[in-house]
Amino acid sequence: MYEQFARFYDELGWSQYAAGVWDRLSKYLDSIGFKPRSLLDLACGTGILTIKAAQRGVEAHGLDISEAMLEKAEYNARQADIEVSYVCGDMSHFCMNRHYDIITCTFDAINHLSAYDDWEDTFRCALAHLDDNGLFVFDMNTVKDLSENWDNIHVRKDANGNYVISKSIAFRDKASAAVTFTAFVQRSDRLFDGYEETVTEVTFPIDRVVASLYEIGFADVSVKNDMFEDVPDPEQLNRVFIICRKTKAR
Ligand SMILES: C[S@@+](CC[C@H](N)C(=O)[O-])C[C@H]1O[C@@H](n2cnc3c(N)ncnc32)[C@H](O)[C@@H]1O
Repeated sequence: MYEQFARFYDELGWSQYAAGVWDRLSKYLDSIGFKPRSLLDLACGTGILTIKAAQRGVEAHGLDISEAMLEKAEYNARQADIEVSYVCGDMSHFCMNRHYDIITCTFDAINHLSAYDDWEDTFRCALAHLDDNGLFVFDMNTVKDLSENWDNIHVRKDANGNYVISKSIAFRDKASAAVTFTAFVQRSDRLFDGYEETVTEVTFPIDRVVASLYEIGFADVSVKNDMFEDVPDPEQLNRVFIICRKTKAR
């Protein structure tokens, strides 16, 4: 998984998503007076969120199932001259033998898990790895997003002259979709390297996810928009952030 993606993920600027999330999340954490000393980023991809956290003095660890994405993450951390440790593993079944102040999982990584049991196992693993009062923060694409926005073809040329063709299809059940990215990344000799990878995403109603988090033992579950603000009807958004806390009693 993500073997091809790893070759063009950063080049096409997709890691900027995690950079933006960290900037907004750290402002939100400041606003609630939460100062994490340690962070685990699940499905960390090319490591940008962990690197940004480490640059703010947070001890940061990343976990991802793709060796190729982790190689990029290690390269990015070396380039940034910052220490982050990365582990290859499945976010629904992992054991780090320690606890963290905050666990994150961003850029609809949770939607990559096709079985709801795996979503719940990920929530359980996150809870087991949090310190008392620790936070679990993840984003997810909503039913609205996968049913309305994943049924099309886009061709895009970015500022560096790279091309991406994305062909997506929403499946009839309205809760899953697949997208194939065909990327042409410009080389220094003005020729292009071509890559292709397909990703399938699945989603579930937000109420169901919130109910599971409470059932599993999280407290104070809140659903926010991209700016970490409360919204009246989150199912109307394409993406939501879910924040929940491990209480001391657990
Ligand atoms: C869209 S990328 C997001 C990467 C990163 N979080 C970011 O914000 O740029 C999704 C990532 O999820 C990882 N992934 C998918 N399924 C996973 C699983 N079961 N366990 C751990 N990582 C997984 C992929 O390898 C990929 O790096």
